[in-house]
Amino acid sequence: MKIIDGKQIAADIRADLKARAAAFLSKKGIPVGLAVVQIGDDPASEVYIRNKIKACGETGIRSVLRILPADILQEEAEYVVETLASDPAIHGVLVQLPLPNGLNASRLLACIPASKDVDGFSAENIGALAKGEPGTVACTPLGIMELLQRYGIRPSGKRAVVLGRSNIVGKPLAMLLNNADATVTLCHSKTNGLREISRRADILVAAVGRPRFVTAEMVKEGAVVIDVGIHRADGKLCGDVDFESVSKKASYITPVPGGVGPMTVAMLLRNTIEAAERQA
Ligand code: GUN
Repeated sequence: MKIIDGKQIAADIRADLKARAAAFLSKKGIPVGLAVVQIGDDPASEVYIRNKIKACGETGIRSVLRILPADILQEEAEYVVETLASDPAIHGVLVQLPLPNGLNASRLLACIPASKDVDGFSAENIGALAKGEPGTVACTPLGIMELLQRYGIRPSGKRAVVLGRSNIVGKPLAMLLNNADATVTLCHSKTNGLREISRRADILVAAVGRPRFVTAEMVKEGAVVIDVGIHRADGKLCGDVDFESVSKKASYITPVPGGVGPMTVAMLLRNTIEAAERQA
């Protein structure tokens, strides 16, 4: 069994991105700029945002954080996002999800033009992904594909099973794996016979948001197991996979922390620099 070292790969990618951001600055005279919009004070979101802002600083990307109250009106939030998006010094705009109740995420995200949609959540970017055409892809699914590639794991012809059908991870990842010629099964909370389906996976991705949901009996001997979850359970971090038992069967497995998480941040930085390079 090999542990997939997302932390190391993310560090390698970030070293390259730092040079790219510096080259952008010296050529254009302004730094790559990212705006992050936080609405409300969801504690998990605050941790993710802090990590993203810190990573921007370390990479030479100028970040702007706008914190809006949870009870902000839809129209006011849209105005803030539109204003940020129209600033030529801001090359990417990110609205951290989930939003507080009462706000319409689709309508708010529609205020970000596809060219500055560094999360890949816009209809245009999702449409491109669905058609297998070039576009910006959501950071976590993109990070997972990068991990597979760097470990020489080729999806073509393999059975891939994705547990969880969120717009942020499961759905776009299923499309990416399909575009890479895997045979993809997308499972969710209403799936019948989940265990039998997951047991046939050559590549198994857990993105269900439930601590240690995937146990050894759900995993084929030699499977590649990717864990997207992160939970705090009795003072320790764990994922959607029961690492202790599953790691005995897997050929490759991502740890939590240090697997998928750091890759999400690295892909956000890459999407932002690429957006800036295209706009310049
Ligand atoms: N919430 C959880 N993951 C993400 C992400 O990748 N981007 C945004 N904007 N919100 C998230």
